[in-house]
Amino acid sequence: MTIGIIGATGYAGAELIRLLRGHPEAGPLILASSSHAGEYIEDIYPNLRGLVSSVLVSPEEAVAESDCVFAALPNGVGERYAGAAVDRGISYIDLSADFRFDDDEAVYSAWYGKPYDRPGLRECSVYGLPELNRARIRELAAQGPVIIGNPGCYPTGASLGCYPCLARGLAGEGPVIVDAASGITGGGREPARAFHFPECADAMTPYKTGAHRHIPEISRTLGKMAGRRVQLVFTPHLAPMNRGILSTIYIPLGPLPPGLPFDRPPSEEVLARAAEIRELYADFYKDEPFVRVLPAGTTASTRGVRQSNYCDISVHLDQTGTILIVVSAIDNMVKGAAGQAVQNMNIIFGFDERLGLDGVPAAF
Ligand SMILES: NC(=O)c1ccc[n+]([C@@H]2O[C@H](COP(=O)([O-])OP(=O)(O)OC[C@H]3O[C@@H](n4cnc5c(N)ncnc54)[C@H](OP(=O)(O)O)[C@@H]3O)[C@@H](O)[C@H]2O)c1
Repeated sequence: MTIGIIGATGYAGAELIRLLRGHPEAGPLILASSSHAGEYIEDIYPNLRGLVSSVLVSPEEAVAESDCVFAALPNGVGERYAGAAVDRGISYIDLSADFRFDDDEAVYSAWYGKPYDRPGLRECSVYGLPELNRARIRELAAQGPVIIGNPGCYPTGASLGCYPCLARGLAGEGPVIVDAASGITGGGREPARAFHFPECADAMTPYKTGAHRHIPEISRTLGKMAGRRVQLVFTPHLAPMNRGILSTIYIPLGPLPPGLPFDRPPSEEVLARAAEIRELYADFYKDEPFVRVLPAGTTASTRGVRQSNYCDISVHLDQTGTILIVVSAIDNMVKGAAGQAVQNMNIIFGFDERLGLDGVPAAF
């Protein structure tokens, strides 16, 4: 199978090349760039030297000559390539936000500042969080070409951390609070002051507090998981590491019992309840190839998932037993971007979902 990658010179594009080079069903890779056409990819990414030595072509050429196209482009620029792919009858996996909102164009345009270019394309598009929408992806793939709105990195970690609790109706009134920290590759390859080494190497900084573009995507997904509206408080942080997203999630479980002391260590009852909810999470995800619910007493860390498509989740309760604390860890470049995109390709083509993604996480 010939695979096209548009935006191949960006970070997510380079990660797609790395993963697809090891995919047993992937044949030639057609790599596209709008600003480096005619150059060799290995001159831009020396890790590819002797392994992938393609000359970069135009995005139009990649769409015209591939059996499936990945697009790792900035938001708002790739819809014409998606249209061209669908017109040719091939599937298109989009890592930007352009297909993450289905027919909810008003929400998309409020946050991304432009309307859809071709709203009709949403008829064959689906939000590509496999754990939530696997059946719909298969259903669309059986009918013709599919456009995948590959989820954002923060939304992947946050949503998977909340899913069992929301789907099983454990969450009570009050907002879900997500504090998440991302590695610097989350900002892409384009240089910017906040990502300059002296600015970020020895500091941890929240940004876009209460106004990050992933807020509508996460709250929409949590709403679908819960079957009702879910209020979200989301604070992203820039963490001094290359890869990884760690999300610490607080979900209120119910009204506070009157007179409940807040300042005591967790009772036996609270510890037993924590173990019960952890079991519920483990059972919920038992058939998911890329979600690992960690043993009680351990905490998820980006160290456990580096360079892998896994999402590690640990489940905790606060000392009163009234707030569920879930920690989820992903690699933003893999489960948060390129790996999840390959997982979606595997689903579209009926391959084993783990193909090309079964490497062991790098411990350091
Ligand atoms: N980095 C992450 O952790 C992450 C996670 C999840 C999702 N994403 C999403 O994935 C997409 C790519 O992210 P990234 O981090 O790889 O960004 P990036 O490093 O900035 O790369 C984007 C690439 O898009 C190409 N491009 C830019 N403007 C273009 C245009 N007008 N037409 C065609 N191509 C254009 C550029 O390559 P050429 O100039 O060579 O064409 C550039 O290399 C974004 O939508 C991002 O939000 C990123």
